[in-house]
Amino acid sequence: MAIERIKIFDTTLRDGEQAPGCSMTLREKLRIAKALSDLNVDIIEAGFPAASPGDFEAVKAIADENRGPTICGLARCNAEDIEKVHAAVKGAESHRIHVFVATSAIHREYKLKMAKEEIIKSAVGAIRMAKELCDDVEFSPEDASRTELGYLAEVVSAAIEAGATTVNIPDTVGYTVPAEFDKLFGYLHEHVDRIDDITLSVHCHNDLGMAVANSLAAVSAGARQIECTINGIGERAGNCSLEEVVMALHTRNEFFGLDTAIETTHLYPTSRLVAGITGMQTPRNKAVVGENAFAHEAGIHQHGMLQNRSTYEIMRPEDVGISKSSLVLGKHSGRHAFRDRVSDLGFDLDEFETNRAFQEFKKLADKKKDMYDGDIEAIIMNVGNSASGPWVLKTLQIISGTDQNATATLRLIGENGIVKDEAATADGPVEAAFKALEQATGINLVLKNFELHSATVGDDAQGEATVTVEYNEQSYRGHGASTDIVEAASRAYLEVTNRILRRRDRGLDDAPDDSSINQALI
Ligand code: KIV
Ligand code: ZN
Repeated sequence: MAIERIKIFDTTLRDGEQAPGCSMTLREKLRIAKALSDLNVDIIEAGFPAASPGDFEAVKAIADENRGPTICGLARCNAEDIEKVHAAVKGAESHRIHVFVATSAIHREYKLKMAKEEIIKSAVGAIRMAKELCDDVEFSPEDASRTELGYLAEVVSAAIEAGATTVNIPDTVGYTVPAEFDKLFGYLHEHVDRIDDITLSVHCHNDLGMAVANSLAAVSAGARQIECTINGIGERAGNCSLEEVVMALHTRNEFFGLDTAIETTHLYPTSRLVAGITGMQTPRNKAVVGENAFAHEAGIHQHGMLQNRSTYEIMRPEDVGISKSSLVLGKHSGRHAFRDRVSDLGFDLDEFETNRAFQEFKKLADKKKDMYDGDIEAIIMNVGNSASGPWVLKTLQIISGTDQNATATLRLIGENGIVKDEAATADGPVEAAFKALEQATGINLVLKNFELHSATVGDDAQGEATVTVEYNEQSYRGHGASTDIVEAASRAYLEVTNRILRRRDRGLDDAPDDSSINQALI
């Protein structure tokens, strides 16, 4: 049976980034874009250039790297947005402009205050404008799944007539169900004349937990592009999860007669990268990439697995990039073994990053008996984020107890060797350490969120800390890892502080960390 190929349109950097707390810096976006290219997605929606100068710069930087996938940017139906997308994406050999306007009655009446004909006119005008700048134009009728079918067919026909090469059908509020979505696509096939001339796409949100199921229903009904995000991150309950929909098509390709070009062994490392950067950890039981996705606890299952893995395992962990053995290296492991392991885990570090990561690995191996893949991933996240000073945490001591306040004493080393010793007292050790850091650096942050996650198993597991803070009405997120959780938290706090100081020194913004601008626009 011939297997047809579905295009994977990744919108982690646009729709995913719109999720509260998921905004990313330019550097983080570039790391994710590289991982998405290695994953071999067909299209990367890199952002919404009109949302802010930082968004524009990020889309442009990703396009200019020109790594292979088509680079796409989102625009509302107006000249300024469309021109900004074009200016941002044109550096990529293959680029796309994605224009959208809402079409459902509720959006027409309350959000846009526009009549049906006005919306069609605006969409047609925008598609024509985009088409003059770029051959590859995608159009999305936002809230399509709640739009009257007859009107939706009219909008889609007009979009094709105006030159759209891809028409996307979004279930913007995660409202539809598979059987209904199947009918919607069937209706469009019957009522839109030139529908076979374009690529039909699907874009599902997960409000009722059906984003993956609805996307699969859409491809069974003729869609040939799926819009999705790594770990399913996105507004509210998120978007269709890339790893789930890809593995569903791959594992059941005989049923669907469809597959993707995704390099599935990169799924797990990419999932870990996005979780590390956004601080949105995946639940243990998350399909495909969760910690328990391949764990077999029950005796009867283990017995079956020993006889034949297929009794209880429909995918192999190694197919999605989870290594067979999780206990990997020790303190005597050399640089070669370390580099091989890093590459087996799907990471691609340059010479400088490898050296730094290896130094950290050696330090950690002195403290910790068993080194797991999670430890290496945590080191790589640390190395990727703690690019440069000005401040480095040299020492940290904590005194705390159940019946006394905590005191943190620390030493920071500055760029030209300057030494800062500070001590602070607070109710708890993390607060005391943050206070001492603020005294030493002179940067006072408002802590909005603090999350701690264990990188591996065991008493000596590393803690991965993520802090979200506010400074000058901007939101920032930082990461740190250590076998000591107060140290991990302090490293995360110092990473943010260093970023703020570097930005201040350059007198410019790295990239806005606050996606609220995007949310206000859409
Ligand atoms: O959910 C949605 O409708 C969107 C569109 C902009 C495609 O994200
Ligand atoms: Zn969306």
